[in-house]
Amino acid sequence: MDHRMRVTSALIYLLLLFFTQVYTFIPGVDGPVIHQEALEGGNTTLLCDTSVDTSADEFMLLVWYKNNVPIFSYDARNDHEWSSDSFNTGGRLKADVVSQPTAITISALRQDDQALFHCRVDFLVSPTRNIGVNLTVIVLPSQPFFLYEDGNKVEENRIRPFHEGDTLVLICLVIGGRPPPRISWYSGETLVDASDGASDIPNVRENELYLPLTRENAADLSCRASNTKLAPALIANLQIELYLPAYNVSIHWVGGTDGETLTVGKPALVQCTALGSYPQPDLSWWLDHKHLTQHSNQTWNSKLRRSVSFLEVTPSVVDNGATLACVATNPAMAPSRGSKADVIKLNVTYSPIVEISRLGEGSLNSVVELDSLHLECEVRANPPVHRFRWYFNDSKIIPGNIWGEQTSSRKLVIEEISKNHAGSYSCAATNSVGETRAEPLSVTVYYPPECSGPGVTLIKETIKCNVRALPGPDTFFWHVQPLGLDVQHLTTGSPLLPLAQITGPLSGTIKVSCEASNGISNQYKACQRTFSLELLRPPQPKQCDLAYELGEFHMRCIPVENATYYEVSVWRMSTSNSSLVLERRGSMGYGARQEPLAQGVEGGIPMSTGSWLVRGTLGSLRPADEAGAAACNRYGCSAPLLLRPTEYLLEATEPPWWHFFLERDVGISLGAVVLVVVFAVSSALVVRLVRRPRLKPPAPVIQVMQLDDVTNYLDSISEHIVRASSSIRSCSSGYSERSAFEDSALAPPVDRRRKPPAIWRESWGVPPPDVTLTLHRESAV
Ligand SMILES: *[C@@H]1O[C@H](CO)[C@@H](O)[C@H](O)[C@H]1NC(C)=O
Ligand SMILES: *[C@@H]1O[C@H](CO)[C@@H](O)[C@H](O)[C@H]1NC(C)=O
Ligand SMILES: *[C@@H]1O[C@H](CO)[C@@H](O)[C@H](O)[C@H]1NC(C)=O
Ligand SMILES: *[C@@H]1O[C@H](CO)[C@@H](O)[C@H](O)[C@H]1NC(C)=O
Ligand SMILES: *[C@@H]1O[C@H](CO)[C@@H](O)[C@H](O)[C@H]1NC(C)=O
Ligand SMILES: *[C@@H]1O[C@H](CO)[C@@H](O)[C@H](O)[C@H]1NC(C)=O
Ligand SMILES: *[C@@H]1O[C@H](CO)[C@@H](O)[C@H](O)[C@H]1NC(C)=O
Repeated sequence: MDHRMRVTSALIYLLLLFFTQVYTFIPGVDGPVIHQEALEGGNTTLLCDTSVDTSADEFMLLVWYKNNVPIFSYDARNDHEWSSDSFNTGGRLKADVVSQPTAITISALRQDDQALFHCRVDFLVSPTRNIGVNLTVIVLPSQPFFLYEDGNKVEENRIRPFHEGDTLVLICLVIGGRPPPRISWYSGETLVDASDGASDIPNVRENELYLPLTRENAADLSCRASNTKLAPALIANLQIELYLPAYNVSIHWVGGTDGETLTVGKPALVQCTALGSYPQPDLSWWLDHKHLTQHSNQTWNSKLRRSVSFLEVTPSVVDNGATLACVATNPAMAPSRGSKADVIKLNVTYSPIVEISRLGEGSLNSVVELDSLHLECEVRANPPVHRFRWYFNDSKIIPGNIWGEQTSSRKLVIEEISKNHAGSYSCAATNSVGETRAEPLSVTVYYPPECSGPGVTLIKETIKCNVRALPGPDTFFWHVQPLGLDVQHLTTGSPLLPLAQITGPLSGTIKVSCEASNGISNQYKACQRTFSLELLRPPQPKQCDLAYELGEFHMRCIPVENATYYEVSVWRMSTSNSSLVLERRGSMGYGARQEPLAQGVEGGIPMSTGSWLVRGTLGSLRPADEAGAAACNRYGCSAPLLLRPTEYLLEATEPPWWHFFLERDVGISLGAVVLVVVFAVSSALVVRLVRRPRLKPPAPVIQVMQLDDVTNYLDSISEHIVRASSSIRSCSSGYSERSAFEDSALAPPVDRRRKPPAIWRESWGVPPPDVTLTLHRESAV
């Protein structure tokens, strides 16, 4: 820049000073005024249009004034810029004179920059143009802060705990600011209080808040101060510690379930979430009002105010329908205010629980024949049972036969029960979880007595009534009728009736009917049967002999078993025909008639009671007579054993040669006779002693008769014996029906078995000399 230019600019300044003195901008008159705002410390751009109206014209000079004092000029003729040093400190003024409109930008604005600026544009032709800019420099206020009612400052914008519903009284203050700022309370973006005003303290403005606190308005409470649109409002956020109960507690399953459905015995994980509580809530679990202390596990997210607790439950059947509750309790609040809970109902599914019961009256386990039986399958199940099945003795009951048509419903109905229905019953119920079978129920069917098998049986001397009944019969009614007698009515407590209880002779048949009673009912049809009692008669005697003693024949027998007495008889050959005819009959072996004469045989030796022989008199016998011995008891007599006296035995019956004297000793001289007799006897004795070695008096002469087998017998025996044997045969055939003694004179049958010799040796020692062991009948003396 040369010297000439420096001179020019000094000239212009002087000129401007001159004009300044003489010319003052009058807003509205000299030109329009624009209102413009800018922040203290910021920058602002003032615009001025220097364009010409006609092309003939020419822009010459631009000058900016602050309160009529020039601060900048530009001379278009020599392209010269000038700025006031006192204003443009630090080069804070920048000009752009090329763009249209031209602009000057003032940065680092100070409070005293608030002034009326105007620009003056001079043209070659046109008149001078003036544009005013009323610049307002905004001074921002201080950051808002809070005071308690009592004037104490709130530290760190954080206030002491409140409960919901408490009224917050708090003052928000702002220092300075031009223009004076507006102070407002906001909850979030919602204006809650705009009633600000000047404080007692100069240059301070305030807004006192009265606010009932809620979860919502306390969450984001702030105080805003603003005095311009150019800058965002100054915001002070207030943090309120507000005790709050949880507003949402919710339970939901997180594992081990099928949707919401639990399964018995299967562990499931459930979660409880509590939202909105402050401070951290205590989460507790309750199952049907029972506090669950275990398995609970709580976490806390303070930012989200979210608390979570987990519980593992292993449900049992009783838990179905139970309520599971999660209770969130705020420890800082009264339980009544600070608790919230969620409750769910447990849906526990399980295989059915089954039990059988009987409907109607009667015991569970027993039923009387023909009664009805209604069984019910009592079931507890979740979900419900969709199928029932019944089992009888472990096999599935299918409809039909002894069962009705309904065998797959909850009830099993048997209208008329029979014995076939006795057994064990079970039912099975099925739901979607599984099938369960009930503990079997054993059902007994009671029925009245009925005959079984032959009904009545005779075993030895006891009649038995064979009946089936349940329970077993306790009373038996008997109607017995021995042949030819009246009916006898008896009652026993057991099925056995000893024949001893029946009175009268029982020598033929007996008609027996029995009926039992078991408390359920009497027998419908009596059991009936007729028995022959013949088998109960004693066996035929085998060991007998004839003896002659004291002028009489005797029959002597070793008693056979079960004989109570013997019947002896004498048979004689008929004179008109050749058959044996009954001559005499008697009995022997009396005593207690019902007592058997012998009980049994042990080791082949007859065991006798008292005397081991029974003996009975026969009177006199003639040659060819036959003597019979039959063993008898109350059921009749056995076939007789027939014996014929041996010749020897018959000889013994002859009277001695001197019997004549014995017969006629009455009249004459007793003494002479005695002498003669004594002499005779003495002589006879001497003679006999010399002649015979034995001197026994007429001892019992015994003959044992054993008939050998028929051939032997027939070979060796004479003709009349053969005749006798023929009569024996005819007798045998008739004897099976009735006693031969009673209805005919036919000879009794003969036992032809050989007597065992051992018995003789054992019991009688060495056979006496007059005993003959012949195999057929013969006489011996
Ligand atoms: C003026 O202020 C604005 C923002 O207010 C800024 O972006 C700009 O850079 C400033 N200009 C100057 C020249 O300082
Ligand atoms: C400029 O603005 C202020 C307020 O910002 C006002 O008081 C003053 O009167 C205005 N001046 C003119 C000339 O309009
Ligand atoms: C609680 O929250 C759950 C989900 O987190 C929602 O489904 C339920 O509706 C809420 N209950 C209430 C009462 O707000
Ligand atoms: C308890 O919490 C721990 C950690 O959060 C987790 O691993 C565990 O499974 C939880 N227990 C139960 C029973 O939920
Ligand atoms: C329980 O769950 C089962 C299976 O999901 C369903 O069928 C049944 O209806 C539920 N019971 C209740 C009472 O909700
Ligand atoms: C004798 O009677 C008893 C009892 O009744 C019987 O056991 C036995 O068999 C009978 N003996 C004979 C040989 O009949
Ligand atoms: C044999 O004679 C007797 C009378 O002596 C008589 O009772 C019996 O019937 C006769 N028997 C026959 C088979 O003629």
